[in-house]
Order: sequence, then C-alpha cells, then structure tokens
Amino acid sequence: MTAPQPAAGSPPVVLAITGASGTLYAVRLLRALLAADRQVHLTISPSGAAVIQQELGVEISLSQFAAVPLLSHQPAWSTRPPSEPSATELSRLHYHHYQDFMTPIASGSFLTAGMVICPCSGSTLAGIAHASSSNLIQRAAEVHLKERRKLIVVPRETPLSTLALENMHRLSLAGGVVLPAMPGWYHGAQSLDDLVDFIVARILDQLGIDNRLISRWGEALTQRSDDSVGTDQSSLEELT
Ligand SMILES: Cc1cc2nc3c(=O)[nH]c(=O)nc-3n(C[C@H](O)[C@H](O)[C@H](O)COP(=O)(O)O)c2cc1C
Repeated sequence: MTAPQPAAGSPPVVLAITGASGTLYAVRLLRALLAADRQVHLTISPSGAAVIQQELGVEISLSQFAAVPLLSHQPAWSTRPPSEPSATELSRLHYHHYQDFMTPIASGSFLTAGMVICPCSGSTLAGIAHASSSNLIQRAAEVHLKERRKLIVVPRETPLSTLALENMHRLSLAGGVVLPAMPGWYHGAQSLDDLVDFIVARILDQLGIDNRLISRWGEALTQRSDDSVGTDQSSLEELT
C-alpha cells in the first residue's frame, strides 16, 4: 500500500473512539488537537457511535460522518461558552470508516505522532493486546506498536476484571501507554469541565503537545490564566 505522507509540520495524530463510557473526553481532545494545529485522523467504532448517542445525544453516521455536530457538542452543565470549530480546524480533520483498511493509518509507512484510543473499550483493548485486528482501529493500534510509536489507550471500566488487567499489562509490555479515565482532583477541580480537562491534558502531555488545560502540581492554582493548548491564540480563545 502506498500511503500519502503528511504535509510538512507536526505529524498527524490518530484518534479512535470506541464503545466505552467517557466519549466527552474524546470530543474535548479532538477540539484541543485541532486547536493545537494538528492534523487528526479520526475513526469511530459502531459501539463508539452508540455510546456517543447515549451520552451526548449526537447521532453519528459512520458512512457519512458529519464532524460539526460532534465537535460543537457542549454538555448542559458546562460553564464554557458554546463554540463551533472553525473552517481551518475542520480542514485538519480526516475521518476514516472503521472497516476501511485501505486508508493511510492502516500502514506503518504513514508517519504519525502517535495514536490515542479514547475512550478504549475492554474489547478493543483485548483485540490489540492479542494482536487480532478485526477492524481499522485495532489495525492502526497494532501498526503503532510495531513501529514503536506512541499508542495511548484510555480505558474506562470499574471494577477491572483480571482479564482486563492482564490485557492492560500485555499492552504496556508491548510499549503502549495505559492512561485510564481516572481524573485527579488535586488540580483545584471546581467543575466537571475541570475533570474532563485533567484526562485530556494528560493525553496531550503524552503526545508532547504543549497545553495549560490544568494547573500542574507545584504551580499555584491561580497561575492558570487560560484554557490554552498549543500556540494558535485565536483557536485557543475558541476553546475556553
Ligand atoms: C452505553 C454503553 C456504555 C458502555 N460502557 C462501557 C465501558 O465503560 N467500558 C467498556 O469497556 N465497555 C463499555 N460498553 C460495552 C462496549 O461498548 C462493548 O464491549 C463493545 O463490544 C465494544 O466495541 P468496540 O470496542 O468495537 O467499540 C458500553 C456499552 C454501552 C452500550
């Protein structure tokens, strides 16, 4: 397969949304990546779409994906002003059907900065940990492991079965980063937005993407002056 190479600049990030609870983390992460000037290759499993519908009330067509309703989603409890993605941000988003193995992210020759599966269901985790790719999401994850690139999985389950723990252990031994959706409370969380941002900030940190979504340990909590990601200030202001 001849894979098109990313344009000059920072390599793209692959983001997969699977059928675990916590799909809001993915929306916030996607907005942050696009605001940080990253090309994002997005894919969604059918169960991921079902959980998005259940949790966010956003209908997703996997065959005719429309980004704006998902990216514009704002929970009723959020204290942030509503914001829509800009045309520039939307141009950075590349959607792939979860069964399309002909897409660039199925090949190790397509260079990326890493892949995030957020949230990551127990079944997707199992498929990757046992190298039995049955869809594009698992294939792209295996590609990241074999190419020794960053693979970050964000599982959400409680309690964890021995089998889930074993799969996380296998993935970690293979070079993956297991980053459970377990927000900390030490950054002065005052709202649900802050808890979502805790997880998103830790994912961005893993990808090496500059962000100030949360106060870092050792910083005065009041130092956090904005909600910023990356360097594109106009985009950042839309992320408040
Ligand atoms: C509303 C809803 C919430 C779910 N939450 C979780 C969850 O938090 N963690 C998990 O591992 N699976 C969860 N599941 C089950 C997965 O969606 C199911 O195992 C599915 O087969 C995963 O498929 P996928 O990995 O292809 O997305 C949930 C399912 C539904 C319908």
